[in-house]
Amino acid sequence: MTEHDHSPAVTILDDAAAASEEAARVIAATLRDRPDAVLGLATGGTMVPVYASLARMIAAGGIALARARSFNLDEYVGLPPDHPQSYRHFMNTHFATPTGMDPARMDLPSGIAPDPQAEAARYEAALASGGPVDLQLLGLGGNGHIGFNEPGSSAESRTRVVTLDPRTVKDNARFFGPGEEVPARAITMGIASILAARRILLVATGPGKAAAVRAMLRGPVGPDCPASFLRRHLAVTVILDRAAAADLTP
Ligand code: GLP
Repeated sequence: MTEHDHSPAVTILDDAAAASEEAARVIAATLRDRPDAVLGLATGGTMVPVYASLARMIAAGGIALARARSFNLDEYVGLPPDHPQSYRHFMNTHFATPTGMDPARMDLPSGIAPDPQAEAARYEAALASGGPVDLQLLGLGGNGHIGFNEPGSSAESRTRVVTLDPRTVKDNARFFGPGEEVPARAITMGIASILAARRILLVATGPGKAAAVRAMLRGPVGPDCPASFLRRHLAVTVILDRAAAADLTP
């Protein structure tokens, strides 16, 4: 990481299906080069087709996750692993089951640790000893967040307990049932924890991400758009569909 502003490599594809397939190809290439890769994984609707494409590539042969390990970005505070909206549950459903990865090789912060601050510290220490992450996959919040690093997050932030932005609570409410509340807090890797990865791959699709994509790539580098801090990293690839890239006109 440096203080300079680097231009991420940006690939724009026609639609979400093509963007997801391209993202899966990047993950597959990492596993081909390094079968014992440490992957940084993400949740969210954007990742569902990415993981489905990767599962198809694994089923086709030539790559495997048997020797890989992974760390996820974040987890809701208060949700047990078997809660349908917990990120552990998401990862079991959308990643471990279709790809055959052993869930014991996938680390996530625990949402039910009695002391969430201590759990955040445990997770940061696990990342430091198990890392560096070879490829960190990221989605993008509509407000420019990465992981659950909401606007206002500092470049030096590490894994910690955060309060979710009202916009994020609203955006993620679609995954929860009627009358079911979105948790107000989460444990998330920090910006500095994310930027410690060797390589970063951000995927954003759909018109709801266009403003955040523009702020990330064209706005000032700073806490108003946490994803803009990615421009301090030397090896970032951004994969977009046309809808998410719509506000990037030259
Ligand atoms: C959540 C996650 C982020 C994710 C973002 C976008 O808030 N914490 O890691 O990138 O949502 O989600 P989606 O892909 O569903 O738009």
